[in-house]
Amino acid sequence: MEIVIRADEHEVASTVADIVGGYVERGNAILGLATGSSPLGSYQELARRYRDGKLDFSTASAFLLDEYVGLPKEHPQSYFSVIRSEFVDHVNLDPARVLSPNGEAGDIAGEGRRYDAAIAAAGGVDVQLLGIGTDGHIGFNEPGSALTSRTRVKTLTEQTRKDNARFFDGPEDVPHHVLTQGLGTIGEAGHLVMIALGAGKADAIAAAAEGPLSAFCPASVMQWHRHVTVVIDEAAASKLK
Ligand code: F6R
Repeated sequence: MEIVIRADEHEVASTVADIVGGYVERGNAILGLATGSSPLGSYQELARRYRDGKLDFSTASAFLLDEYVGLPKEHPQSYFSVIRSEFVDHVNLDPARVLSPNGEAGDIAGEGRRYDAAIAAAGGVDVQLLGIGTDGHIGFNEPGSALTSRTRVKTLTEQTRKDNARFFDGPEDVPHHVLTQGLGTIGEAGHLVMIALGAGKADAIAAAAEGPLSAFCPASVMQWHRHVTVVIDEAAASKLK
């Protein structure tokens, strides 16, 4: 695991854009996209490089990590909508090639299996962006998630619902369930790139990088992966030994 500590969120975004841009430049990149606030600066930097004519996303495709269950995809906080408004609408990535789990599927367990099969059929994700929850979740694999899990429904912890309440009108509006890639699914991506900003993520980053590999810190599963880059600011790095 390589840990890159940068001075601030702009430098973090620039490092992440260098990594992702490298895959995009090779052509036919399959990108794994996270939502939440951590990757926003990186998406803005990638969009800037596209506008400047330095990056061409025309041959890229993407898979999202997760989606709220029961939130219509037209809802502004569905991850389907968020990834479009924050990233896809600003680059020449074909929206038809940006896939996300369907949180409104009638057969939600079957939807998880279908989504894993779609990722496999595309040849797997080349580079997967990840944020980390204050409780160490990646995707929405909350503590206690099986390290080999596949895409499935998970119940959000009260902490995660509180953390995400800032995106909704009130905490009670945050859905209780999500459809999320499993830890096993995420681990099949060729390169994991974790982004964390701010002191609020320092404990989770220390546990993920330096604690025991444990289902109680789902992000620690990265310790098993052959190619991981953790790109964080100094505040998020402050509890590393
Ligand atoms: C979002 C996701 C989550 C977030 C995590 C951190 O697609 O999978 O794991 O990355 O909750 O969220 P932020 O970046 O908002 O602190």
